[in-house]
Parts: sequence; C-alpha cells; structure tokens
Amino acid sequence: MNIAILPGDGIGPEIVAEAVKVLYALDESVALETAEVGGAAYAVRGHPLPESTLRIAKDADAILFGAVGDRRFDALPRALRPEQAILGLRRELGLFANLRPAILYPELADASSLKPEVVAGLDILIVRELTGDIYFGQPRGRRASPDGAFAGADEAFDTMRYTRPEIERIARVAFEAATKRKAAGHAGRVTSVDKANVLETFQFWRDVVTEVHADYPDVALDHLYVDNAAMQLVRAPKDFDVLVTGNMFGDILSDEAAMLTGSIGMLPSASLDAASKGLYEPSHGSAPDLAGKGVANPLATILSAAMMLRYTFGNVGAAERIEGAVRAVLARGLRTADIASKGTTSVGTKAMGDAVVAALRAAR
Ligand code: IPM
Ligand code: MG
Repeated sequence: MNIAILPGDGIGPEIVAEAVKVLYALDESVALETAEVGGAAYAVRGHPLPESTLRIAKDADAILFGAVGDRRFDALPRALRPEQAILGLRRELGLFANLRPAILYPELADASSLKPEVVAGLDILIVRELTGDIYFGQPRGRRASPDGAFAGADEAFDTMRYTRPEIERIARVAFEAATKRKAAGHAGRVTSVDKANVLETFQFWRDVVTEVHADYPDVALDHLYVDNAAMQLVRAPKDFDVLVTGNMFGDILSDEAAMLTGSIGMLPSASLDAASKGLYEPSHGSAPDLAGKGVANPLATILSAAMMLRYTFGNVGAAERIEGAVRAVLARGLRTADIASKGTTSVGTKAMGDAVVAALRAAR
C-alpha cells in the first residue's frame, strides 16, 4: 500500500495522525508520503495545491486527507484559497464518485437532534457526483454590463452543466452500491434527487438515470425534487437507502444527512475515480476553533481509512476490523467532546486513537 497523507489545516494534522497509527497497527509495511495541502501549503509554498503535492497524490494508490480551510486565507483571491486544494484534487485525479454514508451508531442515539424513533438504526448512503455541475461548469465569472452602468463588474454567473457520460457513470455507481447493499439486507432502492421541474440540466439527469436503471432490474428507482428530498430526510430518513445526486445538491444534502446522526465527527467519505483509486476524508471540516487543543474526534478519519482498505485495496476484512474496533471503543463508553453524553468517559484525540489501536490488537 502506497498512501499519500495530506493532513491540511486546522484539526487535520491531529486527526490524520490517529488514522496513520491505525494503518500502521494493521500493516507495518505500509508506505506513507506526507505533503502539505490547503492553507498549510499556501503558507510555505504560495499555493494551496502545489505541483509537488499533486505529484505525490497522483503517484499514490490512495490518499488520506484531513481537512482544508483556514480563516487567515479567506481574503485571498478564489484561486489561492484553501478549498481550491480539494477541488483541484477532485478535478485533476478524476474523483467523480463521492460516497458519504450516514450511519447512526446505536451508542450515540441521543446525539441526534431528531427523536430516537426517527433515526434509530439509520444507515443510508449518499452518492454525490463530484467533478461536474455548477462547481466546474464553464463559463463562469464576472462582467460589466454593455452600458457600463457600474465602474467594476455588475454581473456574476456560473454554469450548471452535465454530460450524458458523467450522469451515466455516477448512476452506475449508485445502482451497484444499492445492489451490494440489497445483498446485505438493505432495501435495494436508489432515490435520484434533482430539480427537473425547473432546470434543464436536471430533467436531463432524470432521463439519463432512468435509462441506466434498465440495466439494474433488481434495484428500485424513484425520483425526488431536491427541496422535497431535504424535507423527507428529516421527516423519515430511514425511508431512504441510496441517494444519488449532482455535485451541488449532494454537497447540501450530505451535510444534512450527516447531522441526522448528530455526530458529523463520526462520518467518513470516499471520493473514487473510475479505477477505484480514491481520496478518503472525514465528512467534517477543519474546525479551526478546535485546532491544536487535542480534543477533535479522530473517528471519522479512522473510518475513512477503513473505507480506503475496502474500496481501493479490496481488503474488506481489514476494513471490518477497524470498524469493529471503533464500535468496541464506543461500547466501552469512550467519547470525544463532540459525542459526549452522561455516563461516558471523556477522552482527547490521542487517547481515542490509542484506544482504537488497542481494540484492534485485542481483537487479533
Ligand atoms: C465538501 C466541502 C467542499 C465542497 C468545499 C470545502 C469546497 O463542503 O466536501 O462537502 O463544497 O465540496
Ligand atoms: Mg460540503
């Protein structure tokens, strides 16, 4: 295993260090190469995604990514802001398929802001298209009106665009995931989320997803408008199995889904290319206010390492061992501050990582 380690900003370095411990505990021969990314890269190299970092990411089999974002750099031109690092990696590496599971761990049921009966047992998967849509469509920019009414620009625009191959390949990822989940006891249903009632791009999305569905007769397909999907996600989240949607709607709905579990600090993600090379990162951000305090929850990053073993390295057994170790640690009552509740034991970032490593060794 040749893995690029990109810790990034804020709590990124602290949580990634714990996931690295876990990878080493599983396989001492793992080859890791660390590089700066985000604001941390801008500070030393003048760019959030330097050539050298991009090279290391391209040469690796998989990437473990912490988080980017640092308020110190908010005033920079857009092309130099920390967020450009993750957008650049997705584009340059063709990481079009973003898998964001939202799972409620029974031990954390009271962390959700929803009633326990609404969320208990929640286990859904959001499949977000990651390299198209209004995030990347051209043209985009600002321009002055022909009559020059304002001194500077007086109009700004972005382009929402999807091509048939882009929709087909993400639809296949969703249908394949639903097929596997059905075999594991889930409903085997894909809900495609769009805005076909208003947007041409998403009427096209709906048409193409429906066509691809013909190849997957064992999986059910339904369609929801995004506003309704946002509502159903808080009304009856357990009615969903796999959701598939575009880049922009997926960004929004995946944050909403993550919060259903009450513990965004627990949720991993995978961003995959056509050959299952992947970038793995926690679903949460860089949390600058927690940085350096040793209190951040490393479990989302540790679970992202488990996803890496499953999807890029095809080592389902190792992935399940990590997931089992995380559950064992939760069952013992260990909690970082974000998931703390009455009667549990508070631990910091390092102690949580150590406990997962100890649970792994104990289970061997
Ligand atoms: C995410 C983040 C990114 C996105 C930002 C940091 C560019 O919100 O991964 O969901 O909008 O995709
Ligand atoms: Mg987001």
